[in-house]
Amino acid sequence: MKKLTVRDIDVGRKRVLVRVDFNVPLKEGMVADDTRIKASLPTLALLLEGGAALILCSHLGRPSGVDARFSMAPVAARLADLLGRPVETVDAVVGPEVQAAAEGLQPGQVLLLENTRFESGEKQNDPVLAAQLAALADVYVNDAFGTAHRAHASTEGVAQAIRAKGGAAVAGLLLEKELDFLGGALEDPKRPFVAIIGGAKISGKIDVVESLLGRIDRLLVGGGMANTFLKAKGLDVGDSLVEDDKLGLARELMERAGEKLVLPSDAVIADAFDAEASLKTVPVTEVPSGWRIMDIGLTTIQLFRTALEGARTVLWNGPMGVFEFARFATGTMGVAQLLGQVTKAGGRTIVGGGDSAAAIEQLGLVDNITHISTGGGASLKLLEGGPLPGVAALDDK
Ligand code: 3PG
Repeated sequence: MKKLTVRDIDVGRKRVLVRVDFNVPLKEGMVADDTRIKASLPTLALLLEGGAALILCSHLGRPSGVDARFSMAPVAARLADLLGRPVETVDAVVGPEVQAAAEGLQPGQVLLLENTRFESGEKQNDPVLAAQLAALADVYVNDAFGTAHRAHASTEGVAQAIRAKGGAAVAGLLLEKELDFLGGALEDPKRPFVAIIGGAKISGKIDVVESLLGRIDRLLVGGGMANTFLKAKGLDVGDSLVEDDKLGLARELMERAGEKLVLPSDAVIADAFDAEASLKTVPVTEVPSGWRIMDIGLTTIQLFRTALEGARTVLWNGPMGVFEFARFATGTMGVAQLLGQVTKAGGRTIVGGGDSAAAIEQLGLVDNITHISTGGGASLKLLEGGPLPGVAALDDK
């Protein structure tokens, strides 16, 4: 880690502004999944033990302006339960009321600001908003890995603003851990290093595939994006989702990957894009017209099992099929199980957030995976080798 972290600074009697990623799903006014809140607890505990007063901020959802449906209130309630101490709230992100609440905080107290996206300056990385946030605290900690790919006022601008007033801008423990696992897998993986990439479209993951190709020993591709590769190989994939404008690119990637690339050999196909559609499993060479590929088949899972034998590092991002429909989730669940087996055999398994993480959770396999990222878009950006403005803005070691 090339950036200063919470372990490098003294926070005793200081007011610390912590950017967390509490962008969690809500259901009926309650937090439906508190994984991201739990993931921030080590940083919060360390700061509280160090004698800090905490001012926490996060976005929640994608509101356009103030919108009660996206209030942080349910998050504050859940956080208070998890921390075992009260969490104060305010009705705003910045302004006189917030400034007064922040100044009144004693060591050990915790204040959660309102949704940062209630301020229009947040997404514009407005320097005025960033300075108002920085004015609340002596130190800034970014622990919001899930939002590190966004250059927003509460992730990027505020780090510059706190430095401008002589304060430190450092990484939290979650941010550090995510960078160590995902970044470490890319920079210095134990080999064989196998990546499994899925998801609907090749277009969203081209940069990831290109960046991985030079580093991995094998690349297993499933999900809708495999269809474009299969068609590029000359197969007829019926009515499957295909990005025709990416066929040339798929050919090029296949050429570059050579033997490293493993594509599905069979598929679960359906006669409609519907949870209740008729289905059957066929070799990928035999997809009839009027039918579409919805999942990888059991032969492919076996093929992937063989490709994963002896793997020391495995990185997985993206489902193998339309796993939202239970009958087309077998491939995704099968891959989740394969990862669990690799971990048991001593390999390091890393899941890049989003749908793949949800599949692992559904199967109760969380404890069988070495690291499950809390970031979807951020982990993709990191795997692409792209910049993470929220990290770049922090103080160097
Ligand atoms: C996420 O859930 O991926 C992060 O919280 C970022 O959210 P966003 O895509 O709305 O910026």
